Amino acid sequence: MDEDLTLLEKEALQEVAAAETEEELEDVRVRWLGRKGRLTGVLRSLAELPAPLRKSMGQKANDLKRLLEGELERRRQEVRRQREREKMARERVDVTLPGVPLRLGHRHPLLLVLEEIEAIFRSMGFEVAHGPEVETDLYNFALLNIPEGHPARDMQDTFYVEDGRWLLRTQTSPVQVRFMQSRAPQLPVRMIAPGRVYRRDDDATHSPMFHQVEGLVVDEGIHFGHLRWTLEEFARRMLGEKTKIRLRPSYFPFTEPSAEVDATCSVCGGKGCATCKGTGWLEILGAGMVHPVVLQNGGYDPEKVSGFAFGLGVERITMIKYGIEDLRLFFQNDPRFVGQF
Ligand code: DAH
Repeated sequence: MDEDLTLLEKEALQEVAAAETEEELEDVRVRWLGRKGRLTGVLRSLAELPAPLRKSMGQKANDLKRLLEGELERRRQEVRRQREREKMARERVDVTLPGVPLRLGHRHPLLLVLEEIEAIFRSMGFEVAHGPEVETDLYNFALLNIPEGHPARDMQDTFYVEDGRWLLRTQTSPVQVRFMQSRAPQLPVRMIAPGRVYRRDDDATHSPMFHQVEGLVVDEGIHFGHLRWTLEEFARRMLGEKTKIRLRPSYFPFTEPSAEVDATCSVCGGKGCATCKGTGWLEILGAGMVHPVVLQNGGYDPEKVSGFAFGLGVERITMIKYGIEDLRLFFQNDPRFVGQF
């Protein structure tokens, strides 16, 4: 029996050592110490032995039981640590690998140019004003010397709201009158008014929604030279120092005299190329001396003060500045396009 126990011990410990997983260890435990386990059987059979033998054998068998339990636990820990190590090795992360680049958003080219325009005029003493995009017929047309039935209305067909008294403004010019009314009779007035405008237009160079910046200066003694200098200074700072401007006679109901202003082509520098259609010039804005009727509608006395005004298209300036040929690109929001600025 003694010898048997020694053999059993050897066999049991071998099984423990051979077990590779916690499940296998549990099988070993059941096989030896479970209800029908081999060592459990030995302990149970002790009862049949004569008393002296029962005592010494009982001791040895119980020692073996404790030894086996201890070894099972020790091996269990070992197996667990081993598995942990394997897992770590499997899941190792190379922290020196380059990360996945994040795509950063940024401002839209139109907003970039608009901010540049604002900065240029602010530095010349202009303040920035805003007006409503849903405007009345009165401010968008009538107070700007464009009465009902005036042919100038045809060029700016727009979206009317409800009964026709309200409309989506076709130009930022109504802010001229709104601003003057809020200021009169204070002088000087020097404001720009950026914002969205709407027209019934849609092709490669016209969008039903686009952006303008209105400009207005009113003071005593303002003359055409002020207009010319201001716009030339703007063109030079916006499109490059060598930029020159030229003024062509034109017509706007709210200015008299009126002019279309061209800048030397920023692509060829004025020599003539495809962008400027060989002329060397690109039209950048409309301008003129504020019509006396408009000054009056704004609350100023045209006998005492005078002013100049201008209106430029932000899309147009941006297209010229960056050589963009299709205006629709601005509103498709393709990251390959807007990401270039
Ligand atoms: N409002 C005009 C347009 O949308 C642009 C314009 C021309 C504005 C001359 C002005 C100006 O202030 O003086 O076509």
